[in-house]
Amino acid sequence: MDSLLIEGGVPLRGEVDISGAKNAVLPIMAAALLTEETCVIRNVPNLSDVRFMGRILASLGAEVKIEEGTVQLRAARIHGRGDYELIRKMRGSVCILGPLLARLGVAEVSLPGGCVIGSRPIDLHLKGMEALGGVAEIKGGYVVVRVGELVGNQIFLGGRVGPTVLGTANVMMAAVLARGRTVIESAACEPEVVDLATFLSSMGAKISGAGSPTIEIDGVPALGGTTHDVIPDRIEAATFAIAAAATRGEIEIRGLRCEHIGAVLDKLKEAGVPFQRGEGSLRVNGADAFRPVDVTTQPFAGFPTDVQAQMMALMTLTDGISVITERIFESRFMHVSELARLGAEIAIEGGATAIIKGGRPLSGAPVMASDLRASAALVIAGLVADGRTDVKRIYHLDRGYERIDEKLGKLGGRVSRLRET
Ligand code: EPU
Repeated sequence: MDSLLIEGGVPLRGEVDISGAKNAVLPIMAAALLTEETCVIRNVPNLSDVRFMGRILASLGAEVKIEEGTVQLRAARIHGRGDYELIRKMRGSVCILGPLLARLGVAEVSLPGGCVIGSRPIDLHLKGMEALGGVAEIKGGYVVVRVGELVGNQIFLGGRVGPTVLGTANVMMAAVLARGRTVIESAACEPEVVDLATFLSSMGAKISGAGSPTIEIDGVPALGGTTHDVIPDRIEAATFAIAAAATRGEIEIRGLRCEHIGAVLDKLKEAGVPFQRGEGSLRVNGADAFRPVDVTTQPFAGFPTDVQAQMMALMTLTDGISVITERIFESRFMHVSELARLGAEIAIEGGATAIIKGGRPLSGAPVMASDLRASAALVIAGLVADGRTDVKRIYHLDRGYERIDEKLGKLGGRVSRLRET
């Protein structure tokens, strides 16, 4: 498995372009199953998760062409049983459930895996499919959902910790071809849900309210092909902003939408990180000293769980006590023990709260990436730490950050990939 070798202590400087959003492109690729016609998706990041989703769609019979920045999909003749092993390996693949059910009346999907961040149930996805008339059962490790005809309904999708992003995507994708009107209440408001709604609308779907907690969908008999540009990756943008601040560098982040990272910018401001918002750009400067902050992760527009680990890395550099409360996922503190190897002082209380006693200098060490965003936090800490940090198992990073070693290298970071044969 590849590792990332980082020689810390160099401030990041220069300009970086943000790629298309991983978490937008995955459901959009799945949505192409809803039509026999060709869909072209542009501004697609070159990520292993995207290639993986391509393999899953191909295993269902779709023609998939992935080229530099573009995915072309044609699902003329497909079947409803996804490849067990492929689907099991990627959590995002659960979003083929809705489109398969809508298109074929049957979907067989192995129980999804993905990052090691809690149990990640799919009960809300199934609640939604059942509300539309689907009948679900678990058989041989597969979730099998069947329906004679999907019929629109009122569906409350709020769960234990609030809305579900991919659950909302799944129900939306099933409802676009259902008979009559579906109203999703407590829908996820994430920009990726809005991007999916934009894609579906350009295929001919009738959707209103995406981006708010109530989404209304009037089913149509069929959808057609389309061309779509994916939104920029807000989590990548936030990661670079934090990396610039942490290294006390000065970078310009281009091609992002600042309104998608409002909560992160608010916390950076509170922490004393100077930045200027531009039109589709953000300039971040590292301050000499930061202030500690308290962060609680929330559904959009709150502070994203996908930036929690990176923020923690920044807080380890800040004199004083910062508190981070993770409210979306259980067990999303895998980075804590690895940050400790670099010298960070962090205590976990009650499973969901991390207390960070910041300000101790970090020093490089071999660390293990455990999930995508935990890996990003280790990279940020490694960029600051004195000496060499060896981040092992970076396939997690390659799932979600396009060419991160190259992008950091262009900003002056001393980062190299060690390929293991
Ligand atoms: N949940 C349930 N039942 C369900 C579905 C979710 O209880 O049926 C719970 C989850 O266990 C969790 C909460 O609801 O506690 C929110 O989970 P959600 O369903 O919103 O997460 P997701 O849709 O599976 C997406 C992103 C994640 C991101 C979350 C939250 C993709 C492919 N994944 O996951 O991204 O953290 O939304 O914003 O879109 C990442 O990119 O690193 C990543 C993990």
